[in-house]
Amino acid sequence: MSHQTAVILDFGGQYNQLIARRVREQGVYCEVKPYTTPVADLRAMDPIGIIFTGGPGSVYDPAAPQVDPEVFRLGVPILGICYGCQLLAHHLGGRVTPAQSDSAREYGKTETFFDTDCKLFRGLPPQSVTWMSHGDYMEKVPPGFCLTAHSAACPNVAISDEARGFYGVQFHPEVNHTAQGAAILHNFLYEICGATGDWTMGDYKETAIRRLREKIGTGKVLLALSGGVDSSVAAALLAEAVGQQLTCVFVDHGLMRLHEGDEVEAAFSKWNIRFLRVNAEERFLSKLSGVTEPEAKRKLIGQEFIRVFEQEARKLGQVDYLAQGTIYPDVIESGAGDAAVIKSHHNVGGLPDCVDFREIVEPLRMLFKDEVRQLGRALGLPEYLVSRQPFPGPGLAIRCIGEVTKEKLDLLRQADFIFRDEIAQAGLGESMNQHFAVLTNLRSVGVMGDGRTYDYALALRSVTTSDFMTADWTRIPYEVLDRVSVRLVNEVPHINRVLYDITSKPPATIEWE
Ligand code: XMP
Repeated sequence: MSHQTAVILDFGGQYNQLIARRVREQGVYCEVKPYTTPVADLRAMDPIGIIFTGGPGSVYDPAAPQVDPEVFRLGVPILGICYGCQLLAHHLGGRVTPAQSDSAREYGKTETFFDTDCKLFRGLPPQSVTWMSHGDYMEKVPPGFCLTAHSAACPNVAISDEARGFYGVQFHPEVNHTAQGAAILHNFLYEICGATGDWTMGDYKETAIRRLREKIGTGKVLLALSGGVDSSVAAALLAEAVGQQLTCVFVDHGLMRLHEGDEVEAAFSKWNIRFLRVNAEERFLSKLSGVTEPEAKRKLIGQEFIRVFEQEARKLGQVDYLAQGTIYPDVIESGAGDAAVIKSHHNVGGLPDCVDFREIVEPLRMLFKDEVRQLGRALGLPEYLVSRQPFPGPGLAIRCIGEVTKEKLDLLRQADFIFRDEIAQAGLGESMNQHFAVLTNLRSVGVMGDGRTYDYALALRSVTTSDFMTADWTRIPYEVLDRVSVRLVNEVPHINRVLYDITSKPPATIEWE
């Protein structure tokens, strides 16, 4: 079945995939196309509307991305965002200039006043906050256009030509800081473009499966499965698409949480794929023996993971495609350039050197985390896999401070299970984005029965965050902390003290190592 399509014409802005995601959220299928896409190709897509994205350029710069003016003759509504708005104004007879004064240049949250008679702003409060980020200014509005929003610093925040269905906004409706952003995009799609909301994640699944089949043909695909959300969803999607041509290698490094390896195996053994679980606990623990420095642990685990994976891959012979569960935030982060390395995050799906393959397949590359979870549900993955919190590639090794031993890991597994169990029973799981136990390397004196103990202090960590770059510690009710503490000291041997970590990130990080 074909769906109504919105086209997002990409002029190089940093929020372009976010716009796509916001359109998908409204139940409308969309595709992001480079600004150089020929108008004939756009016409062939029969779009219900086109969104021009923002971009770093200035329209009067000869090197800046331009648009083929034919696009304005397609008879399709257009919404220009930021640079896209200036481009629209520039091409249709307006004038854009660099903002003369600092006050006309706008960055950040800006109180904005809307003309709610304009279809784009219908139903909105007349005044609310938008997110601006522009150095250029629309000095003259193009003929046929009206001004439909302004701010204290800038009279020309939004323009519209309702007869032709052309709209431009200087602010970014796609970012959360724009309070009415979703309503504005909804108006554009539904009131102006005539969207019917005929698209769901289930449809994404069907399209993705069809495309994977076309691309892979009869080729063989290999996927490193970590058991995390992303690689699990990628595996399930590929399993549907190419079945037995897919081999998933799940390296169980012995640093997983309680029952986790078995859960991953149970979930995947029912798919029509070749699933290999490599039990490599001994191998990893012997490598980690005597290692206490966090970065050294990470590097060793990352290297060993690749080595085990390569060994298994070699046994399979020729592989055509290496599949990875890369998601859009990974794509952005890896492009982050010279950001300081705080911790060398090792991606368990990292690229092995000696697997000979033709190409990489990354079917989730354009999706955000919550969309990946929705797709996982549409594919029928169990909820505990789909809604799983992030779990670091090096696993419990970086939650077991100091030397990592099997004994300490077993203690930690048990303690971590109890903490998560109590949080689930208290119905608090949804209120935190990550929670886990950390086995500190600190031992202290306690008393149990009539005897002295000298045992480990266990730390509990729970954070609330939207992007994991900054985080706040969760205010867990005392009575829940109390239940956890009582169970831990009673049920887990060698733990005689329980601490709750009340540091935010920064200055702390979420993990302890
Ligand atoms: P930090 O500790 O840097 O963690 O505040 C931020 C998020 O990243 C996860 N994390 C990792 N994930 N490999 C991963 O795949 C790693 O080496 C790694 N280290 C931290 C952490 O669990 C949190 O969600």
